[in-house]
Amino acid sequence: MKAKIVLLPGDGIGPEVTQAAKAAFDAIAQRFGHDFLISQALMGGAAIDATGEPLPAATLAACQEADAVFLGAVGGPKWDKSEKRPEQGLLAIRKALGLYANLRPAVTHPALYDASPIKADRLKDVDIMVARELTGGIYFGEKQEGSEAAWDRCAYSAEEIDRVLHQAARLARSRRGKVTMVDKANVLATSRLWRRRTEAVFAEHYPDLELEFLLVDAAAMHLLSRPASFDVLVTENLFGDILTDEAAMLVGSLGMLPSASLGDSGPGLFEPCHGSAPDIAGQDKANPFAAMLSAAMLLELGLGLGEEAQVLKDAVYACLEARQCTADLGGKLGTQGATAAVLARIL
Ligand code: NAD
Ligand code: IPM
Ligand code: MN
Repeated sequence: MKAKIVLLPGDGIGPEVTQAAKAAFDAIAQRFGHDFLISQALMGGAAIDATGEPLPAATLAACQEADAVFLGAVGGPKWDKSEKRPEQGLLAIRKALGLYANLRPAVTHPALYDASPIKADRLKDVDIMVARELTGGIYFGEKQEGSEAAWDRCAYSAEEIDRVLHQAARLARSRRGKVTMVDKANVLATSRLWRRRTEAVFAEHYPDLELEFLLVDAAAMHLLSRPASFDVLVTENLFGDILTDEAAMLVGSLGMLPSASLGDSGPGLFEPCHGSAPDIAGQDKANPFAAMLSAAMLLELGLGLGEEAQVLKDAVYACLEARQCTADLGGKLGTQGATAAVLARIL
């Protein structure tokens, strides 16, 4: 098949892990005879340096014309005090492409039990799919930033809530049939709306699914004490951001968590959950597997290439079983070595 993929390498380890994803696309194209037209565009701090904007108009236009977009990571200390932040570019592209559902799978594997700070007996059979709302809530509300006072408004409409609930419910039907909705309904008005909508949507459309409600503080605890009891976890933007970094440590490293950001139409955005990791950038230390697993999500969910995605995932897991991995997982390889180990299993 022919497909246009736009790469947004970004900052810090972003370009390093994007290189790994690109190599995976090239290897899959070669093995299956696909014609991937892969181009690159500026995003984040790199884009601010080159153009003054974190999401230049040319980048957005290229993404809108693509079949799928891959992003490395954005941000870093260099831009922490600048007027425009690299992260604004990421929020802007999510909004502009209508990517309201951010799917973040956290799946443990016996080869990684030692890399997790959680006891191995809790990690068996953990397979969680977080459906994080991505274009609403406190991230996108009005804000005021003063030297003596500041505020961020958190708002949700029923429509914004419903569409991600439907996405989560459809996922649960294709999995183990359970949805956990996480909120702070004992304090927040927005959370109480989330709860009412969840009750209504599930009663009307998904009475066959098991539905659980958790307050976010308790959810953070249950994720560690009984992670295997979760199937699909659906939640608002901010809680989903926080809980998925926590879930990454069940798997063993933030460098293992991929993601897919999807809307109702148009290209999806696929990116590792981790950031630009300034502490290890430019040292060939970054784990490329979250990026390569995000590339697999792009193949499957962005291009409909399920078999190709499975080949890539199998190659990553075979490397983990052979301990061909980076130091965050207790391995001895660098970013490039771990990438090469995956490629060798594809070609
Ligand atoms: P981070 O995710 O960059 O790093 C947190 C810790 O995890 C660091 O110790 C880092 O070395 C480690 N880590 C992250 N990815 C790794 C990988 N692939 N392999 C091995 N170790 C890895 O989070 P942070 O330090 O809080 O943020 C740094 C910058 O990244 C900030 O500017 C932040 O805004 C940005 N950020 C961007 C994204 C994104 O672009 N999607 C996501 C999160 C954070
Ligand atoms: C993520 C990141 C982003 C978020 C930041 C960089 C805006 O932490 O993708 O998890 O909070 O959504
Ligand atoms: Mn995050």
